[in-house]
Amino acid sequence: MKNDRLQWLQGPPAKCSSVPDSASIPAGSKGPWRLVLLGAPGVGKGTQAEYLTNRLGACHLSTGDVFRAASKRLDCDQSPAMKKALEFMRHGELVPDSTVWEMLRERGDCLLHCGGFILDGFPRTIAQAQSLQELLEEESLSLTAVVDYELPTAAIIQRLSGRRTCEACRAVFHVTERPSKGKSICDRCGGRLYQREDDQPASIKVRLDAYELSTTPLKEFYKQLGLLVPISAKGSPEDVLARTMRNLNQLNKVADVAARRIS
Ligand code: AP5
Repeated sequence: MKNDRLQWLQGPPAKCSSVPDSASIPAGSKGPWRLVLLGAPGVGKGTQAEYLTNRLGACHLSTGDVFRAASKRLDCDQSPAMKKALEFMRHGELVPDSTVWEMLRERGDCLLHCGGFILDGFPRTIAQAQSLQELLEEESLSLTAVVDYELPTAAIIQRLSGRRTCEACRAVFHVTERPSKGKSICDRCGGRLYQREDDQPASIKVRLDAYELSTTPLKEFYKQLGLLVPISAKGSPEDVLARTMRNLNQLNKVADVAARRIS
């Protein structure tokens, strides 16, 4: 199943042409899956979210992608808050919580959809995590798990510096680890590959510092809620996916045993 994420990327007036429904959840899966992917910039969250979307049928919702899509719009189509947000992003700093939350509330339907979601890049601060918890509780929904990808800083910098992204379909490549067949051309759609502005060395440092300061406290937050699943992001994307699926399936089994004990 392929979700086009149009509604997520453009906001409420856009229609999803391929929305997930409960029938599309893969056989054997306990879905809908509602996952948060944590991990430093460049650890591979977006790459894994793509794989997990195909495996679990849930929609890949990346807050960074929404900001990047907004940056492509005409100047007159950008609100003052969005212009300010893009300025923060360019420098590698976090966008203020109020702007992120406003953007997310507009897209609340994507979070409530019966197909589930894979949140990539949100939440990033304790305030964002608390707002998300409140929204889900209001709707009697809960997260399935929070996957925390771990990788040494040197490997993260290597992944970020070599990343190339398709400007048309947003597919992600790496100059040495996942090269496209045609130089600077997307294998998937033929679009042009570019290097993200915030993947320059100065912005990478700011992003890693922001992650350390604002996002690492989320690990404790989700650990206290019993949701944190730490996973090594070493190895190929396929290795990391296999590790992730093993851990998630293990969670399912534990939940099954607990449910049987209660009934
Ligand atoms: P965002 O787009 O979320 O960026 P990020 O968190 O910095 O994460 P990245 O997209 O850089 O990395 P990734 O972990 O997805 O790695 P990827 O899979 O691409 O946010 C950008 C900005 O938006 C923020 O800085 C902030 O300004 C703003 N923003 C967004 N959300 C916000 C929020 N909630 N609050 C405030 N501000 C917010 O992989 C990286 C590279 O490695 C690729 O080249 C890939 O091919 C390669 N790779 C991946 N996996 C492997 C592997 N296993 N082996 C080898 N190579 C691999």
